[in-house]
Amino acid sequence: MGELIRFGVSMPEALLKQFDRLIAEKGYRNRSEAVRDLIRTALVEERWKSDEAVVAGTLTLIYDHHARELTRQLNRLQHDQHQMIISNLHVHLDEHNCLEVIVIRGRAGEVKEMADRLKSIRGVKHGQLSITSTGADLE
Ligand code: NI
Repeated sequence: MGELIRFGVSMPEALLKQFDRLIAEKGYRNRSEAVRDLIRTALVEERWKSDEAVVAGTLTLIYDHHARELTRQLNRLQHDQHQMIISNLHVHLDEHNCLEVIVIRGRAGEVKEMADRLKSIRGVKHGQLSITSTGADLE
């Protein structure tokens, strides 16, 4: 980690009070760590906007494994893009429903495209891509 720099920030008192309440609820012990996290989140989001940046993410899918053709399509799409898939977790939630978490690393544009293709398979009830960084570019 590089040198720590202290800097002052001016803002309306009411806004600061709201911020302090928010970070206390979230469990931050001080403003510095909360501000660092906000900045990291903004940097990660910005990175995802560039299609070429290498990013990591998790895609969570909920589906009924009885849906016709669904498991075959899910399997085929993941094999097509196997070089981007780091890991895969499958949980049988009940007699019908499966939860699958797919850990993906690759260029942001390709990760988003793959997530969209998997989410739009007929029979997938819900899909949520959670975006993060590979960590390499964050302090
Ligand atoms: Ni299952």
